Amino acid sequence: MALFSSSTQTIPVTGEIPQHIAVIMDGNGRWAKKRFLPRVAGHKRGVEVVREMVRLCANNGVKFLTLFAFSSENWRRPADEVTFLMSLFMEALQQEVGKLAENNIRLVMIGDKSRFEPALTAKIAEAEAATANNDGLTLTIAANYGGRWDVMQALQRLIQDKPEAVQGFSEEELAAYLSMHYAPEPDLFIRTGGEQRISNFLLWQLAYSELYFTETLWPDFDEAEFKRAIASYQQRERRFGRTSEQLASN
Ligand code: IPE
Ligand code: IPE
Ligand code: MG
Repeated sequence: MALFSSSTQTIPVTGEIPQHIAVIMDGNGRWAKKRFLPRVAGHKRGVEVVREMVRLCANNGVKFLTLFAFSSENWRRPADEVTFLMSLFMEALQQEVGKLAENNIRLVMIGDKSRFEPALTAKIAEAEAATANNDGLTLTIAANYGGRWDVMQALQRLIQDKPEAVQGFSEEELAAYLSMHYAPEPDLFIRTGGEQRISNFLLWQLAYSELYFTETLWPDFDEAEFKRAIASYQQRERRFGRTSEQLASN
């Protein structure tokens, strides 16, 4: 069974601080282009902002931070950019694992790992194992992730484990097989870089998330920007299908 209940089955209890923030870190390429730098310089800078974002979330009581690092469609990019991104993951994993452990951060990678180099898959498993018992912030990195892939793999595994499920299954039974079964659904979704789309990120899990879009490019995202996103979240009325009047009388 899923650890957390579904927003469409049970009305979630929400607070001032989002429990779970999911981010599409977009705009690295444009940040670099503006500075006449190669696109990869933007990705490098982007990793530094990840570090800052992790710190901000941990210090502000956010329990889950999920970052979209590489989509299942990003393989369509030029081969040299893809190769660079893969080596950047590898490097970041190597450099950061110690610090994550020190700061009580649990690292989880979601996505289809079958397309990664074995060395990268091994590093991921190592980093996950080294931080598995940490109970501070859970940092999820979505790499070679696609929302449709996630639903498909969940269905496949459900049917494999429980062949009788072809006759019918509940939403919660399926949700237990989704990549993010260990986390509540995102309260706040942030996309930097000005585009207003989901780009095949967490399709299922974003059902009732509050959406926040900013023109700020990911490499320029900072504490002030983080605070603006939180302030915007705090002004939302999360109705989950109910009326305002019902919320007022609760
Ligand atoms: C996001 O920045 C990072 C990845 C998709 C890996 P982009 O590389 O998409 O930057 P823009 O959108 O081209 O500016
Ligand atoms: C989404 O950004 C994926 C990541 C940030 C990893 P893209 O830049 O790839 O999205 P599209 O292609 O503009 O929708
Ligand atoms: Mg982009």
